[in-house]
Amino acid sequence: MHKNIEPSILYFGTPVVLVTTLNEDGSPNVAPMSSAWWLGWNCMLGFGARSKTPQNLVRQKECVLNLPSETMVSAVNGLARLTASDPVPPHKLAMGYRHEKNKFAIAGLTPVPSDLVNAPRIRECPVQLEAVLEQSHPFGHNPHRPPTALGLEVRVIRAHIDESILLEGYENRIDPDLWRPLMMSFCHFYGLGERLQDSTLAEIPESAYRPAAHMGLATANQFQ
Ligand SMILES: Cc1cc2nc3c(=O)[nH]c(=O)nc-3n(C[C@H](O)[C@H](O)[C@H](O)COP(=O)(O)O)c2cc1C
Repeated sequence: MHKNIEPSILYFGTPVVLVTTLNEDGSPNVAPMSSAWWLGWNCMLGFGARSKTPQNLVRQKECVLNLPSETMVSAVNGLARLTASDPVPPHKLAMGYRHEKNKFAIAGLTPVPSDLVNAPRIRECPVQLEAVLEQSHPFGHNPHRPPTALGLEVRVIRAHIDESILLEGYENRIDPDLWRPLMMSFCHFYGLGERLQDSTLAEIPESAYRPAAHMGLATANQFQ
């Protein structure tokens, strides 16, 4: 028996991403977010438009997508309800947010230089993806009010992966049994469970998904 209900949020469970950007004064910013999905080497990020990170990303046209493992949950939680925006937007003030200039120190995270973008990577994250902005879309069409969110499409241009999660015997593969992403579901933190059963999709060689023009990273992909 299903019931018609109207949940306030529809956050059914996605990985947490720590997006790093540069503020106007050149200082680094880091924001946890989880409205993110990937297709090929492109990624769509959903952000409230009044947050500092999307403003930095639109201005600077680059960022790093740092993926924390589940062991980093306390660091990520330490970033919650902080913003680099000053003054803090009224809707965030009402939800108990405060301005914080040095979020890295508060969370015990270490910024390290990237190869191709000015935004820093986060040393503690096993996955660090340098990316450039491709397109920005108003998001959340609603006939009753203007959109307050942005869909920011970024393209990954360099991937740094901790050796501890690489699939043994392969140059370019991550072992999904070793990668333990931190997940957010309905604003609570979870890890992934164990692999459930053999996957028909995984019978396709992973190399079939490689973008056609390697490192030009055009987005040819089995799903497109
Ligand atoms: C686990 C987690 C997931 C979040 N996911 C999102 C998200 O997907 N999109 C978003 O706009 N904000 C999300 N937030 C809230 C932002 O982190 C928050 O708006 C923050 O103030 C952004 O920092 P900034 O203003 O310095 O960019 C999330 C927060 C947490 C703790």
